Amino acid sequence: MTASDQSNQALSEIIESHTKDRGSLIPLLQETQAKLGYISRDAMQAISDFLEIPRVEVWGVATFYNQFRLTPLGKHHTVVCMGTACHLAGGKLILEALERELDIKAGETSEDGNFSLERVACIGCCMLAPVAMIGDRIFPRMTPFKAEEALIPYKQGDDKDAEH
Ligand code: FES
Repeated sequence: MTASDQSNQALSEIIESHTKDRGSLIPLLQETQAKLGYISRDAMQAISDFLEIPRVEVWGVATFYNQFRLTPLGKHHTVVCMGTACHLAGGKLILEALERELDIKAGETSEDGNFSLERVACIGCCMLAPVAMIGDRIFPRMTPFKAEEALIPYKQGDDKDAEH
């Protein structure tokens, strides 16, 4: 079974577990993203067909809420905490530095598929604010300069070293 078949099967299972009314739209999008990592065009079409609402309506809801991604995650998924403590400690500057350095905006994936960037709510280590994560690794007390520096091994493909 190809990855695409598996995605289609997962999507069918999600859709079949819902009732055919508009109130199912957001739960369908949430479950699709939780299972597939993002909301693909095919998923939007399938949800639109199932709910019998225009695809543009599904797209409108998916783009309205920050929680939904319309592109797959990159190999190195990078998140910046924008919870209260991190926001007050300069989280926005960290996000801007990463956006500049990766040449993508929050919610996007780089063209080569190596990086995706996202802003998230508190990740539970406020004492270390501002915090970012690349993959599973936490980067505490970030500065814009440290953010740029942290990316270097990942960009060079030396991310095994970066894990330690
Ligand atoms: S607010 Fe960023 S870790 Fe809690």
